Amino acid sequence: METIRHTRRSFITALIGLPLLLTGLWRFLTPKAAKKPALLRVPIADIPAGGALIFRQERVAVMREGTTFIAMSLVCTHLGCTVAVTPDGMVCPCHGSHFDRAGKVLTGPAERPLARLVVEQVATELVVSG
Ligand code: FES
Repeated sequence: METIRHTRRSFITALIGLPLLLTGLWRFLTPKAAKKPALLRVPIADIPAGGALIFRQERVAVMREGTTFIAMSLVCTHLGCTVAVTPDGMVCPCHGSHFDRAGKVLTGPAERPLARLVVEQVATELVVSG
């Protein structure tokens, strides 16, 4: 009888302990993804519905589309000038590329869309990172 109880206890301990051990080992062995530092912290209440907030120094536009928030780099994908936001979309003053509000190229010479940035909602703020 004693032997059976001891074996059952060992089995249950192993059943519980093995997954915990493997989880800890997995966390230790897998590299952590480096989180990019925040470029901006924006109060959500400051972002106009259907409009955009422009951060010239960071060259970032933060827009609200319904309940969705979008942050976009204003660095032109042609040669790196700062794109201007207009009611009709975005225009590069250097060589005239036009982009829509989603950053898609409407007319060149730019060939690639404007870069989307990572937006994370933290309480009443948006945290924008590259
Ligand atoms: S740098 Fe924007 S179109 Fe050339």
